[in-house]
Amino acid sequence: MNQAIKKERIYYYEQHKVVDSMSDDVHQGFSATPKKLSPKYFYDQRGSQLFDEITELPEYYPTRTEISLLKKHAGEFSELLGENSILFELGSGSSLKIRILLEALRPSVYVPMDISKAHLIESSQRLAEDYPWLEVHANRVDYSQDWEVPDFGPGRYNAFFPGSSIGNFDPKDACRLLEQVAKLVGNKGGLLIGVDLKKEKSVLEDAYNDSAGVTAQFNLNLLHHINHQMNSEIDPETFSHKAIYNDRVGRIEMHLVSNKEQSIQIEDQTYRFNKGESIHTESSYKYSVEEFHHLVKQAGFDPVKVWTDEQNLFSIHYLQVNK
Ligand code: AVI
Repeated sequence: MNQAIKKERIYYYEQHKVVDSMSDDVHQGFSATPKKLSPKYFYDQRGSQLFDEITELPEYYPTRTEISLLKKHAGEFSELLGENSILFELGSGSSLKIRILLEALRPSVYVPMDISKAHLIESSQRLAEDYPWLEVHANRVDYSQDWEVPDFGPGRYNAFFPGSSIGNFDPKDACRLLEQVAKLVGNKGGLLIGVDLKKEKSVLEDAYNDSAGVTAQFNLNLLHHINHQMNSEIDPETFSHKAIYNDRVGRIEMHLVSNKEQSIQIEDQTYRFNKGESIHTESSYKYSVEEFHHLVKQAGFDPVKVWTDEQNLFSIHYLQVNK
């Protein structure tokens, strides 16, 4: 763990271990059958912008539903999590949702954790400016690698993990990540986590096949990002966005499907694509309340309370570490 760097109003930490593994990941993913790419590469600057646009789409219900649950139950969250805690946020992004809770939770320390350095520093500084009473310790973390954050000494520890981002991990990896969060917050530490619920297939598929085509651009931007970083010349126009709900495993799958037979050169390797062959770019698992309880218990959490909206679209769970 690096020493904290004090940057205008905030502390910033970066791990020695955050390494750029795009080249290895792309070669490994393109050599696999079926071909795949990690969704963490969606989020270059353009990808983060497109994701922000997705959250405002009429078909993409998770963000607005979660926000209305956060607003509605902020007082209750504050009673459960307690004031003056050390509050971690996983995948803090623009740190927008935490703003809904800050006045109610009044943490003494807020620790936003995200992979995108520029975005993390900028949004943390903005937050520290708007909430001068808050100590902000921004941590750059890549959850797909080993990670740790600084020790803040004795106190009450909580974590906030909104947006159903836990759904982007396969259940085994999700369990491993939750175990790490349990270690982070310690015995009796709390976790407030947003989880998208299972529901009618058409509602799920519409959320990932919006009529304005923003999700398609978001998916295809992955190829632009690879081209930019790896000096390759993949033609994104030769791929199409596809998102389907796989009800056997309970997940939305996003794919990029090759519109033609083609060879793609990346660094010193050539990869063959058949017409109709796909690259699996993202899974977004959906859970019933019971399924999610089952998962978190394996990771060392006790489910304490769950809130859902009237249409049963989305859930927010409060969990506590039981050991
Ligand atoms: C970030 N994550 C929870 C989003 C999801 O719904 O799985 C990413 C996303 N992919 C397409 N649309 C949104």
